[in-house]
Amino acid sequence: MKSEKFDIVKLSPEMDESIFALETAVFEEPWTKKNIEDEFSHGELYGINEGVRVVAYIALRITLDEAELLRIGVLKEFRRLGLGRKMVDFAFESLRNKGCKSIFLEVKASNEKAISLYSASGFAISGRRPRYYRNGEDAILMQKVL
Ligand SMILES: CC(C)(COP(=O)(O)OP(=O)(O)OC[C@H]1O[C@@H](n2cnc3c(N)ncnc32)[C@H](O)[C@@H]1OP(=O)(O)O)[C@@H](O)C(=O)NCCC(=O)NCCS
Repeated sequence: MKSEKFDIVKLSPEMDESIFALETAVFEEPWTKKNIEDEFSHGELYGINEGVRVVAYIALRITLDEAELLRIGVLKEFRRLGLGRKMVDFAFESLRNKGCKSIFLEVKASNEKAISLYSASGFAISGRRPRYYRNGEDAILMQKVL
């Protein structure tokens, strides 16, 4: 598997510039540097680096025994190599070790790639929030027992 040569590491606040660059390249509504700083205080960020550049990352938050997958992004030139799946599997293992029992997320209804990744990783659709996003799109809620 191509993803085997990539290692997942815990990201640290000093990597905020590189995470911000990824956010800007990957998301329509990127997190600001302040959002990223806040996530380091409240959540956990893991990623894959190539040199000093973060090429893929995942952001998680834990509340008691429940986790939320807040963000997952892979730079375009690193997609379809299994990195997204590898980070999700890594997150499951890490969360289980911390005593989490379940994980949930919200995703734009039009985001087929992400919904496909989440379904392939064992998430099931648990609900829908009409017009949840700023652009008027519905949110699909997905959940998985860990
Ligand atoms: C969604 C995303 C993280 C997937 O990352 P990735 O590293 O390319 O995903 P993987 O290579 O691990 O693919 C795992 C599975 O996801 C699904 N998938 C990923 N990309 C897909 C695509 N373009 N079309 C259809 N299915 C896709 C497939 O089921 C795939 O399994 P397969 O390769 O065996 O068919 C990536 O496309 C991305 O960064 N998108 C923009 C950011 C985003 O929308 N994030 C989610 C909301 S926070």
